Amino acid sequence: MKQGSEKNLRVIEEYKKYGQEWLNGNDIVDWQIGDGKKFEFSENQKQFINSRKRYCLYSGGFGSGKSLALLVKMIFFCLFFPDNQVLLGRKTLMDIQRTTLPDLFDLLPTNWYHYRVKDGIITFFNNSKIILFGLDSLQEGAITDIKKAQQKVKSLNLGAYFIDQLEEIEKPVFESLNARLRRMEVPLQQGNMTTNPANYWAYDYFKKNPDKEKIALIEGSMLDNKENLPEAYIQDQLDHDENYVKRFVYGIWTPSVLTDKAVFAEEYIKRFELLKKSPIATEEGCEIFEEFKQGSKYQMGVDPSTGAVDSTSISVINIENGEKVAKFNGRMSVPASIEKTKLLYYKYGKPLIVPEINGVGVALLEGIKDLNVYQREVFETYERGEKIKKLGWMMTPSTKFALVAHFQDLLRKKFPKIYDQRTIEELKTFIWSDEAKKQGAGAQRHFHDDDVISTLLAFWGVKAKSEEVWRLEKRLEEAVRNYQREFEYF
Ligand SMILES: Nc1ncnc2c1ncn2[C@@H]1O[C@H](COP(=O)(O)OP(=O)(O)OP(=O)(O)O)[C@@H](O)[C@H]1O
Ligand SMILES: [Mg+2]
Repeated sequence: MKQGSEKNLRVIEEYKKYGQEWLNGNDIVDWQIGDGKKFEFSENQKQFINSRKRYCLYSGGFGSGKSLALLVKMIFFCLFFPDNQVLLGRKTLMDIQRTTLPDLFDLLPTNWYHYRVKDGIITFFNNSKIILFGLDSLQEGAITDIKKAQQKVKSLNLGAYFIDQLEEIEKPVFESLNARLRRMEVPLQQGNMTTNPANYWAYDYFKKNPDKEKIALIEGSMLDNKENLPEAYIQDQLDHDENYVKRFVYGIWTPSVLTDKAVFAEEYIKRFELLKKSPIATEEGCEIFEEFKQGSKYQMGVDPSTGAVDSTSISVINIENGEKVAKFNGRMSVPASIEKTKLLYYKYGKPLIVPEINGVGVALLEGIKDLNVYQREVFETYERGEKIKKLGWMMTPSTKFALVAHFQDLLRKKFPKIYDQRTIEELKTFIWSDEAKKQGAGAQRHFHDDDVISTLLAFWGVKAKSEEVWRLEKRLEEAVRNYQREFEYF
């Protein structure tokens, strides 16, 4: 950082002047980074960047340009007002380092700032600072650690904060940051945030009952930003079911799913009550409802236990007729969970395993990664539209929504057949929720949802085909096999 260089001093003065003009009502419409890339902002980005309200939230579909607008606004707050101190927060520090920082550093000439990795602080040439903060430390973990993180926040004197993906943050954390917005050396204090339209506390705070004096809500769609996204990405996203497209492409934020309401309709659960039966056998703690049938196809879902209170749950389903044929549920260590998963995997003819890999799931995955494990597709970069495959199911508010929507679709087609008591009970208490840690839906207080999650994972991607279609497909497969055999013979 060449703080004293003549050119930098000129840039500092220039941005101070822009800051004054901006405060006087001169809106930003585009931005050129130094001598480099120039950005033209969409209407919604302009509204967000130029809002002077105390709390600004940019809600929108995937890829709609929210994070970029957030970062640009943060840079302006640092450049416009020297000696500013702003906080950049996400759920975890790792999220910031992996996904936010590369995008941020793309927007900054290297001689404008200095990044001290050890302290998580970026200092600009005009002495403004960005403090990187994993907000999870304020809401999860041991009480002593939470207290330490709270002390750290209390010592801050912020001119602004910037939170990407607000849907992962609990309301008390948001409130504790608001109390730190008291840096009087700068002319404007603001909280700026982005979100995907999810079902959580911010719906009420920003959309349903906003304090209009203080709050700006900007809502955007993926299509606002279509010039900057690969066609393949947009097509891929439009290719989901209607609810998903409304929410995650068009960014429509409605209370269509109300909090504390049951996710699964009573009529379906009543049907399961009629199907309920005892297992035909129990093997090493696994309940077996139907034995493995040669030629049938299966799929497994695994929800590994995340702590002392929850269990590991495994579900095996027959993907041809929707029967849940076996299950396991119990509190145990990761190595023991791996053993149970393998036991059912070999018993049911090496089916596809869909394991949740958040948290402790990473360790479980390590033990089963050589088996037939589900691969999710991840967009490596928006720019090139490249997809890469990664093992396992990553649970986020959006993937959970997709998972639930898929299972509901199967329920409407009366495809799943569930026999075990515990899963049926858990389906009854599985509710839409606005608690950040439930990522949109989860068990009612004092109830569990591990069997629901492993069941939903077991059904992920499964199509409800009629017996007749399966028979035809099998005949076709057999014909192909016979043909190949004959071919080999000659
Ligand atoms: N005004 C713009 N000019 C050029 N490129 C842009 C502009 N706005 C956004 N982009 C680019 O479009 C892509 C998607 O934008 P961004 O990551 O901000 O979307 P997002 O709404 O945060 O998406 P997600 O919901 O997936 O987090 C990025 O590559 C970003 O650099
Ligand atoms: Mg983003």
